Amino acid sequence: TASPPTDLVVFGGTGDLSMRKLLPALFLCDRDGGLDPRTRIIAASRDGLADADFRDKAAAAVQNSPAVLRAGDVDPLTLRRFTARLHHVTVDVGGDPDSWSALGSLLSPDRPRVFYLALPPMLFGRICRDLGAAGLVTDDSRVVLEKPLGRDLASARAINEEVGEVFAEHQVFRIDHYLGKETVQNLLALRFANMFLEPIWNSRWVDHVQITAAETVGVGTRRGYYDGSGAMRDMVQNHLLQLLCLIAMEPPASFDREAVRDEKVKVLQALRPLAGADAGAHTARGQYAAGRAGGQDVPGYTDEPGGAGPSATETFVALEAGIANWRWSGVPFYLRTGKRMARHYSEIVVQFRDVPHAIFPGQAASANRLVIRLQPEETIHLHMLAKEPGAGALRLRPAPLELSFADTFAERSPDAYERLLMDVLAGNPTLFMRRDELEAAWRWVDPIIAAWDGTEPEPYAPGSTGPAGAHHLIGRSGRTWHEEE
Ligand code: BG6
Repeated sequence: TASPPTDLVVFGGTGDLSMRKLLPALFLCDRDGGLDPRTRIIAASRDGLADADFRDKAAAAVQNSPAVLRAGDVDPLTLRRFTARLHHVTVDVGGDPDSWSALGSLLSPDRPRVFYLALPPMLFGRICRDLGAAGLVTDDSRVVLEKPLGRDLASARAINEEVGEVFAEHQVFRIDHYLGKETVQNLLALRFANMFLEPIWNSRWVDHVQITAAETVGVGTRRGYYDGSGAMRDMVQNHLLQLLCLIAMEPPASFDREAVRDEKVKVLQALRPLAGADAGAHTARGQYAAGRAGGQDVPGYTDEPGGAGPSATETFVALEAGIANWRWSGVPFYLRTGKRMARHYSEIVVQFRDVPHAIFPGQAASANRLVIRLQPEETIHLHMLAKEPGAGALRLRPAPLELSFADTFAERSPDAYERLLMDVLAGNPTLFMRRDELEAAWRWVDPIIAAWDGTEPEPYAPGSTGPAGAHHLIGRSGRTWHEEE
């Protein structure tokens, strides 16, 4: 069903995120009937483009988008119908106030307005102020904020305050694109639509949990942004902690926006603080060195373009988190993420405890685990032991129960941004971060980053599974990282 007719204004609308993700996702929403015929998409930038030029640029971006190509052939008529919704308006953020009236005169007085800020966060407050001052914010306006939302608790708060002066909290949509991934939402379905998991979803049955988001790419051309960020701020503070929340949260009383977010924030608040020496002992950071990966020579992080020589920025983090509540006390949650790793995948592993008493000879410990693969393929595997066929002595062999989403469902899995943009247009914030959630995540992350001050990340070979410290971190309790079989 189509969302109500809306004016969607994308600040930074000609930039990288808009071209690579937002416009292709909006095209697919439109193709699949998700946009009202009257909905318009207005790119606001300093580029001074005419509508026609912007439409050409957008059409090329849509046609070259991997997400669009995966979703089938691009029908020229559908593409033309989509580009006819597109407009460009030149707005000088922080500059000439007259440019805001050009935007104002484009907006329809009686439609909801969505302002999507695909620009660096230091501009968020300024844009919101200017929108407010120009009288463009109506009661049914919304603002969408891209990550990174600040670089620590203080800056995140400052941004939230500034935005909050113009938009009420229910109008603010903070994006974490991981929450838009099909498999991530499926975690909620898996946990709360099935009976058999809930009774064993606690410290009595679960030995530990691993959450991995590994990429084979390096930072590419993003070193300018990444140097001030690092893997902790870029991936852990948001994506990995959000996954942890969905795994660890209590069942909400309803699938209501506040009920779900109330339970998630409780998990963040229950994270055992890691500070000082404790942070050092429970984390490992790495930085990729130069070497060979994927059959080619690749530069080390400090040689990536756009940087200025040596840097203590981490491109890899592993950490051991604990949740201080009845359900999870004593269960380690191991999180890790890195660039230039051996394989590109994201997964969650719930490792169950050993059987209390092994009766079969040679029985392997730790036989049961649930492996939820978020990408590249979407699968859920439940690892079990079964009897190896044969009339001889009874022997056990691992035998997974396998669910592949691609094989089970004929429907296409939409891209994360499609889902999230449709939610914004429908005014549904369930899959967006509330202010208290975001701030709770920073509150936990800040002392860890502070404890790293003055330390160097450990180098690791590109195409590897990360620095030795990460293996030591999990290995000292006799556990190992789950690597693809
Ligand atoms: C982004 C980070 O938020 O997520 C990037 O800024 C990272 O550094 C990306 O590459 C990973 O997203 P995905 O969907 O490819 O796992």
